[in-house]
Amino acid sequence: MGRFWQLLLVIGLFLWLALMIRPIVPIIKKGTSERGLLILFLISCFAIAFFYAAGLMWGRTTNLAIAEYWRWWVVHLWVEGFFEVFATVVAAFLFTRMGLLRIKSATNNVLFATIIFLSGGILGTFHHLYFTGTPTGVMALGATFSALEVVPLVLIGFEAFHNYRMSKSTEWLADYKWPIYFLLSVAFWNFLGAGIFGFIINPPIALYYMQGLNTTPVHGHAALFGVYGMLGIGLMLFVLRSMYRKQKWNDKLIKFTFWTLNAGLLLMVVVSLLPVGLMQTFASVNHGAFKWSRIIGDTVFGIGTLTLFLFVYQLTLKKDKSTN
Ligand code: HEM
Ligand SMILES: [Fe+2]
Repeated sequence: MGRFWQLLLVIGLFLWLALMIRPIVPIIKKGTSERGLLILFLISCFAIAFFYAAGLMWGRTTNLAIAEYWRWWVVHLWVEGFFEVFATVVAAFLFTRMGLLRIKSATNNVLFATIIFLSGGILGTFHHLYFTGTPTGVMALGATFSALEVVPLVLIGFEAFHNYRMSKSTEWLADYKWPIYFLLSVAFWNFLGAGIFGFIINPPIALYYMQGLNTTPVHGHAALFGVYGMLGIGLMLFVLRSMYRKQKWNDKLIKFTFWTLNAGLLLMVVVSLLPVGLMQTFASVNHGAFKWSRIIGDTVFGIGTLTLFLFVYQLTLKKDKSTN
């Protein structure tokens, strides 16, 4: 990213941080049982804003090894460290608010998860530095610790899913079906995209041969959109649900959206990126055939993004005035 845009993003992130501090600090001061969760949440917000600034540590003439070192401070420490903590706390917080998780077990889960994310995540950074003169011992630490990171979020997701099924009888919960489904898909993609696909490219021998092949976007798409994209949509739907309490949801449209986004992402990966990546891995000759079949997954996924817009438009701007 060019320096101008980088600086703009730094400013944006600090504005965002201020927006997060403003409502949360007064609640922390009240000292309710949610205090522990909220403090962790705020710490992850600080980390997201401050650690992006590591992206300013290199310039046009910086040695590639040093640039790569700081670059992964942003990419890796964000996605495999502080975003994970952020996502876990948000999910745990929402699930406790809906009565699906007890606050005490949620706080314990989150603390446990944070310890694993950060002990794994921080040392795990070195699993990216294979071609930058990093000592073998450090590489070994990186490879070992980065493999541990997906366990806790998946556990929280499955626990919540279990509780969700038990409490399906509660009528008000049905209102939150789609926001919850998006959060469940976060757990799914965390398992498949970050866990499985991340793991496949992660061993030293894999990275030696596969770094930067199509297997990297297999993992990058499934993990980044799968986890943080779906999380963003889920959170938006939660907010919309409470803002438009009386409005009837177009259930069919949001259902369609949910499945096209998830199926599209899966097709993108399974139909195209993965075969291409494997072909690149097994042979250095790329026949190019599967590259174009990417169109299938991308189109299905694209339809999902459009219907999401349509859904929100219908719900908000084009709403039936008599009901509000
Ligand atoms: C939700 C969590 C995760 C997200 C969003 C994520 C996202 C990404 C993205 C976007 C890249 C490409 C970055 C670039 O090339 O500039 C990447 C690379 C990589 N990720 Fe992840 N990741 C996650 C978790 C993991 C985990 C748990 C592992 C290991 C088990 C892992 C292993 C790797 C490896 C080895 C690469 C480098 C591949 C290469 O250089 O060719 N990731 N990740
Ligand atoms: Fe990483």
